[in-house]
Amino acid sequence: MIELAVFGAGRIGQVHALNAAAHPSVHLKYIVEPVASDHLDRLAMQTGAMLCEPETVFTDPAIKGVIIASSTDTHAALLLRAAQTGKAVFCEKPVSLDFSTVEDVTNEVEKTGVACLLGFQRRYDPDFRLVRERIVSGQAGELEHIVMHTRDPSPPPRNYIERSGGMFRDQAIHDFDMARYLLGEEIATVYAVGNCLIDQEIAAAGDIDTAMITLTSVSGRFVQMVNCRRAPFGYDQRLEALCSREVLYVENRPQRGVMIADAQGFHSSTPMNYFIERFTGAYRAEMHAFIDMIATGSTPLATIRDGLEAQRLAEAAIVSMNTGKPIQFSTDWHPDAEERR
Ligand SMILES: NC(=O)c1ccc[n+]([C@@H]2O[C@H](COP(=O)([O-])OP(=O)(O)OC[C@H]3O[C@@H](n4cnc5c(N)ncnc54)[C@H](O)[C@@H]3O)[C@@H](O)[C@H]2O)c1
Repeated sequence: MIELAVFGAGRIGQVHALNAAAHPSVHLKYIVEPVASDHLDRLAMQTGAMLCEPETVFTDPAIKGVIIASSTDTHAALLLRAAQTGKAVFCEKPVSLDFSTVEDVTNEVEKTGVACLLGFQRRYDPDFRLVRERIVSGQAGELEHIVMHTRDPSPPPRNYIERSGGMFRDQAIHDFDMARYLLGEEIATVYAVGNCLIDQEIAAAGDIDTAMITLTSVSGRFVQMVNCRRAPFGYDQRLEALCSREVLYVENRPQRGVMIADAQGFHSSTPMNYFIERFTGAYRAEMHAFIDMIATGSTPLATIRDGLEAQRLAEAAIVSMNTGKPIQFSTDWHPDAEERR
């Protein structure tokens, strides 16, 4: 059995804890969560895991891997401690809201050689994977441009926005990652515009709720991202990739598979609501990949360096939005250097 521990039993930590505990080769030994609650007790009972302090995990030689699903401001220190103690890591995005910290932690983790999977679960979703496979195999022809829509069902509360690091680092980071994943090459320019069109509480917290971001790849292909904190019908998570032989569409998944037609028209159901429902299978596949990484040394689809590069794009988009200028981008672009220009 592979013994694991999970840090954080909030929204996503519960999903990961249940997926890990359900795997036949895993014993989820510990949960670390500082806030007591009924749902924590329930989770401990469902998974059979013990509640403990962080150092119990790191000093237990039986623990082969840790799942970091705690609040973002705890990821960097937990990653470094896991790397020091030789535990494989599954870390939720983002590594930190401070870009220099993301760079330092990525370099440190890579130096220790500890295996690390970063939580870009969309890479494990069968629909997004099929798009990538048809592009990589050449079946779809040459990829020319991508259009992505990510709209949350409704704006999060102000206290979430204040701790989120802003919409680009918190939400759009998944789209920056998907752009890199599908293009298979790096980005050359980033141009972003953003505004608060939905909820003035978000503006008061210093963030935006609506953005358009245009990326150009090194070979001159385009990505158009549409990101927003509201869609009147629920969660909107779509992508289209225009290639020379095919257009590949990832559509919203309806809650109900049946279309009902009557004299008033054709009625489909609303899409699956929000990420936990839409990506149920992807979160499970991602956990299986983490376990496989520990058991066989396989390379995960998203590494800590992918997390760094997606966040570099998020930082460039923030600078572009704030200055009104396109950013000449490369993988050594740094927000501090841009400020000095
Ligand atoms: N990949 C995805 O789809 C996805 C989705 C949601 C959240 N996330 C990321 O996962 C992380 C958690 O998000 P969430 O929505 O579950 O937040 P949440 O606030 O619901 O849960 C975070 C939990 O971590 C706990 N915590 C705080 N400090 C801790 C520590 N030192 N050790 C252990 N636990 C600690 C908190 O008490 C809380 O219960 C964030 O970084 C977020 O960006 C990723």
